Amino acid sequence: MIKGFNEGFLWGGATAANQCEGGYLDGNKGLSTVDVIPSGKDRFPVMLGEKKMLECDDESFYPSHEAIDFYHNFKSDIALFAEMGFKCFRMSLAWARIFPNGDEKTPNEEGLKFYDDVFDECLKYGIEPLVTITHFDVPVHLVKTIGSWRSRKMVDYYEKLCRVIFNRYKNKVKYWLTFNEINMLLHLPFIGAGLVFEDGENKEEVKYMAAHHQLIASAKATQIAHEINPEFKIGCMLAAGNTYANTCAPEDVWSSIEKDRENYFFIDVQSRGEYPNYAKKMLERKGIKLNIEEGDEELLKNNTVDFISFSYYASRLTSADPNINKSTEGNVFATLKNPYLKASEWGWQIDPLGLRITLNSLYDRYQKPLFIVENGLGAVDTPDESGYVEDDYRIDYLRRHIEAMRDAVNVDGVELMGYTPWGCIDLVSASTGEMKKRYGFIYVDKDNEGEGTLKRSKKKSFYWYKKVIESNGSDIE
Ligand code: BG6
Repeated sequence: MIKGFNEGFLWGGATAANQCEGGYLDGNKGLSTVDVIPSGKDRFPVMLGEKKMLECDDESFYPSHEAIDFYHNFKSDIALFAEMGFKCFRMSLAWARIFPNGDEKTPNEEGLKFYDDVFDECLKYGIEPLVTITHFDVPVHLVKTIGSWRSRKMVDYYEKLCRVIFNRYKNKVKYWLTFNEINMLLHLPFIGAGLVFEDGENKEEVKYMAAHHQLIASAKATQIAHEINPEFKIGCMLAAGNTYANTCAPEDVWSSIEKDRENYFFIDVQSRGEYPNYAKKMLERKGIKLNIEEGDEELLKNNTVDFISFSYYASRLTSADPNINKSTEGNVFATLKNPYLKASEWGWQIDPLGLRITLNSLYDRYQKPLFIVENGLGAVDTPDESGYVEDDYRIDYLRRHIEAMRDAVNVDGVELMGYTPWGCIDLVSASTGEMKKRYGFIYVDKDNEGEGTLKRSKKKSFYWYKKVIESNGSDIE
């Protein structure tokens, strides 16, 4: 029999509050940044921080408002996860459920109680919650009043949130991630950090300032977490995927190193505890001076993360030649088209070996346990009348990625804590706002326009994944 994974390997699935909960104002929740991101033509300009839309209007459709209504269906959804045999469920907290405006003195009990109920439901089935503290959301009030993460005050509000949740859930949650895909703020600044740019300002400076604040907040969270419960395991979270060189020309290879460093920068700080020299030099060259306060360097140094988590969907490709600049469509991270790879319907290039490469690069670089907290294929599913989907394409994608993961662990010796494929139940796409871009093992009857019964149905992959978990990854056929 093929060797699977170690005992205790955390098989599961991943979601985020903003893409599945809905109930956007229920239980006294405040407005989150994601609640003001419409679908359609304004979506990208808003996500880029180029267009200011901080109120909802009657004409636009906002996919987060109802999403898949996990808020009212979490018990039956978690029961389905348990049926698949999940050991772990990755989810995020909506900050504005706990502090509706972000700056209140006391938290909103209804919001806290909701997450108590969700955790209790997981624990009832022996499912370990893995909680992302912030996954692409900030209370809109903090964007309006202080400009979100461009302001250092955000560190205090985030710290307050952390103290509340760490104390409240200290006996229910052990694994925490401070910021989802922290490097996303360079690519989609409103999504990643609630940034809206003013005319004529130095956007790069604002982004790196916000990055510094998030890095400080992350280190503070790690410090507080370990004080409150030394058993807590705190992870950082990177949108990963190695960048390949377009040719073996040294210039192309150099370009790929530079591209990867843009992303590694964040994890280098969170895991090694200091700004790497290449980043200091880059900031210097760009004339960016970070507002590094007294004590920041010590805080970063003394509070590094316990493990490195990341999302992996695709590898990337780059060239030093400015004439070869045709990126594939649909990718938030710029990449050339790799002729050796096929792509998803949304242009994301499918590269299972790239996962093994990424796992090895991260492990070589940080020597800390890794956790794949997102992976999967966004695809159009066509259900039959009963809602059943024969998603062999998804099974094939996941199978090949699990195989690569198995090689990284069993052949290369990478330490891997677990695997939570993205969107284990269909949910709203972060980049496009669509429902039609589905990742789940569970089909949800809802379309891009918000129509549908919200009925849940098991796909073919549901039964396949159940078997994978049962065999601890040795049977993936
Ligand atoms: C990651 C995010 O970027 O990729 C998720 O952490 C997101 O929130 C996922 O949903 C897949 O991207 P998309 O755009 O297909 O939803």
